[in-house]
Amino acid sequence: MIPPHTISSVLETARIEEVVSDFVSLKRRGSNLIGLCPFHQEKTPSFSVSPSKGIFKCFGCGKGGDAAKFVMEHEHYSYPEAIRYLAKKYNIEIEEREQTPEEIVAMNERERMFNLNDFAGKYYASTLLETNEGRSIGLSYFKGRDFRESTIQKFMLGYSFERRDAFCQHALQNGYSEEILLKTGLAISHDNKLFDRFFARVIFPIHNLTGKIIGFGGRILDQTKSKAKYLNSPESEIYIKSKSLYGIFYAKNAIAKSDNCLLVEGYTDVISMHQAGIENVVASSGTSLTVDQIRMIKRYTDNITILFDGDKAGIAASLRGIDLILEEGMNVRVVLFPDGSDPDSFVREHRTTEVEEFISNQSKDFISFKTGLLLEEAENDPIKKAGLVKEIVQTIALIPDAIYRSVYVKTCSKMLDVEELTLMNELNKLLRGKLRKQLGSDLPQPPVESPEQPREAPKPEFPAGYHQERELIKLLLHYGREELLQDTTDEQGYPAVYRETVVKNILDELAVDKLEFDHPTHRKILLIFKENLEKEEVPNEKHFTSHPEPDISTLAVDVLSDRYELSKNWEKHKIFVKTEKEDLKQSIDRALLTYRRVVLEAKLPLIAQAIKEAGNDDDIAILLHQYQEMKNLQIKISKIPGIVITK
Ligand code: CTP
Ligand code: MN
Repeated sequence: MIPPHTISSVLETARIEEVVSDFVSLKRRGSNLIGLCPFHQEKTPSFSVSPSKGIFKCFGCGKGGDAAKFVMEHEHYSYPEAIRYLAKKYNIEIEEREQTPEEIVAMNERERMFNLNDFAGKYYASTLLETNEGRSIGLSYFKGRDFRESTIQKFMLGYSFERRDAFCQHALQNGYSEEILLKTGLAISHDNKLFDRFFARVIFPIHNLTGKIIGFGGRILDQTKSKAKYLNSPESEIYIKSKSLYGIFYAKNAIAKSDNCLLVEGYTDVISMHQAGIENVVASSGTSLTVDQIRMIKRYTDNITILFDGDKAGIAASLRGIDLILEEGMNVRVVLFPDGSDPDSFVREHRTTEVEEFISNQSKDFISFKTGLLLEEAENDPIKKAGLVKEIVQTIALIPDAIYRSVYVKTCSKMLDVEELTLMNELNKLLRGKLRKQLGSDLPQPPVESPEQPREAPKPEFPAGYHQERELIKLLLHYGREELLQDTTDEQGYPAVYRETVVKNILDELAVDKLEFDHPTHRKILLIFKENLEKEEVPNEKHFTSHPEPDISTLAVDVLSDRYELSKNWEKHKIFVKTEKEDLKQSIDRALLTYRRVVLEAKLPLIAQAIKEAGNDDDIAILLHQYQEMKNLQIKISKIPGIVITK
């Protein structure tokens, strides 16, 4: 538990530009800093950081927030983890209280599962290194595979005793519940007794992106038995196989740095490559890649190199999985290892430089690799060859980028000895079909102008007044504490100046007409301003951008990062645009008026309709009263010059 005052002091101290620039290289532009968004792939920067507001915002993908939010998004941390990270960065001490038994009970299930996995990881590691059985069986096994002790420690490898309930008993004695033991899959229940899932195996903990243990793999030591070579934790709330990659925690920095991700099959391939100093490696753990796994890699690089075992019988079967990678717009290369070797054995038999050379010399782009492979199969059979052409074109059609597609058409035309134009026609036919499916309607047959144009997302419908409410929220957040000056007279009739803050002005105006915001988040923000106004305070921007309720912080960030800073270009050409702030009072009046008008236009007919349909006199009386108030307001507005009421 982090005390609230510590959280505030962390948030006050953290400088958004310093936090972000640990991960993103930023350039100054005006009062902001800009860079390439780390949350989506882009070539021109739309990621903006505002030191004065303490927020970041990407105009490409829409992500935004304060320093804590950035760390949460970027490192996949929970809120407390992000605060701890920032505290560490700024040397702020967190005096965390010991958790009370009640708090431990209340700890949510996921945390309890992580907690137990962490405990189990340490247990298996110490069993391996510090017990007789562990050292003589487990450690000697790893030594036999040339794993160094530093490697064993880095990957937290372990050993599980032969005794079938050694871990369960140890965990129960340490206060872990049967329920969590079963939920993590570390224990299984049989005849009402608990048993260890892993026994007499060496253990490979599986970490998530942030280094927490989400599951385990256990390898059997003697291959003679008919048991599965590897046993893995079952899926659980924290271990979703399709969303995890073995080694990603250890590899992510190297992947980003080398701008390439090597994909291998097994635990031991990852570990041996790391030991040899090749660290941009992850394993799919024997299954074909999923879209979630691909997207995880895509956060760090667009390039993926798949390393296939030499003894791989079913490469053709796994080719289909690779299509998914192409669809995500990644560049895929493939390396086939010599017969009988996998990356693990190859690395042990060669020097690191040789391995690196082998990978870069042998790697082929996926389409050429697939074409070559299928060509071999088809040999000189013309029917098979026709089928193969179709299949290759189907794969090319998956690539989202038109330029890449045309390059591959060229390559394949040469390899297959088929006219480029023939391939192009086939490709376009497929693309049209795909597009038609996407649009879900009968599209005219050719010509299709640009098949690679993505479909525009449907625009969400906003309820009446939404934009006007938001405009007012924007004024409140940007200029809430600014003072408006109005000429007036004092009690003696002398000219005087009346001052009030923007917040007071807007809230008073809304109160006069008894108008309330419709949108729940807008309402919450308004309420915060109201409560503070009673204490004669105006909360600062940080209060909203770091607000614990995510809808509030998200909206605040969005609104505060609205772009209306003058473009450098305008300044150069001496074109000046009147900014909002210059005629603040006018902007506020206009926003209030428009808001009133829109609300009335939407509400009056609704109330009129409700009156017609109302069943009893009481309801009618209430509705009539509302109607009258609205009507009065409408009349009032219509008397203001420059505003035209249409109904
Ligand atoms: N695997 C599994 N269950 C099995 C076999 C394999 O989960 N019964 C997964 C493991 O993640 C394993 C990967 O598939 O690491 C690749 O399998 P394989 O090539 O057979 O194992 P290696 O990693 O080469 O293991 P070793 O070198 O220890 O034989
Ligand atoms: Mn192997």
